[in-house]
Amino acid sequence: MRTLASLALFAVSSAAVLADNPDLCVPRCPATTQARFTNQIPSGPACPQTRVDLCYTNTDLKFVFTALGETNFYFNPNQTTNGDIWEYEVMEAFIHKGSDDPQTYFEYEVNPNNVTYNSFVYNPSRVRTAGAPFDHAFVMDPFGDGFTVDTQLDKPNKKWVSRSTIPLALFNAENPRGTTWRMNFFRTIVGPDTFPNQQLCGWKNPGIASFHITPAFGTVKFV
Ligand SMILES: *[C@@H]1O[C@H](CO)[C@@H](O)[C@H](O)[C@H]1NC(C)=O
Ligand SMILES: *[C@@H]1O[C@H](CO)[C@@H](O)[C@H](O)[C@H]1NC(C)=O
Repeated sequence: MRTLASLALFAVSSAAVLADNPDLCVPRCPATTQARFTNQIPSGPACPQTRVDLCYTNTDLKFVFTALGETNFYFNPNQTTNGDIWEYEVMEAFIHKGSDDPQTYFEYEVNPNNVTYNSFVYNPSRVRTAGAPFDHAFVMDPFGDGFTVDTQLDKPNKKWVSRSTIPLALFNAENPRGTTWRMNFFRTIVGPDTFPNQQLCGWKNPGIASFHITPAFGTVKFV
């Protein structure tokens, strides 16, 4: 009995330690927190730095994506909302409300032309296993739904910055204080000379050349 009780206590305190040590604690706006990364996925020389500033209101998630060291600003001007903008240069957030390794999550992307990609992803294998189902459910009217985006290029300073708002109602998550989520952030780098071979960069490195590996997503707590 004593052994079992001690084991149970140990298990409880380990879980508490994990829950209290998220990779990122997101404050209520106007305070912000910042994720920064230079990891090349799955390996290789460091990427130029990418920064993601986050905060929340009762109704929205606010992201400011900043790409430093940018030389290409490469996009396809023909692509519009929910087009395959991920073939060129984008910054991305994968978002799931809950602490588990998700099978469904929201994929948000923005390109240097201020065009966004807004889709739920259905990835029941959690790692996009070859032959397993892998599907998308697009948000068809993001700006009607309350999304906002504003993207500024600063070519002299080799930088582009995109400010985005994503409604928390998408996740049934108004007033998210105290909840734990899973997220990952990415950036693709490619130019006319290297297209379609992208350099992949990310916050949490999945260890293979794929973004859709949900056990690698970081833990994010709203505080
Ligand atoms: C954009 O569309 C035009 C007209 O169809 C086409 O000529 C051009 O090659 C397209 N650009 C890209 C980058 O695909
Ligand atoms: C970006 O697109 C959004 C949505 O269409 C628009 O409201 C915003 O003014 C655009 N910003 C820039 C800098 O083009």
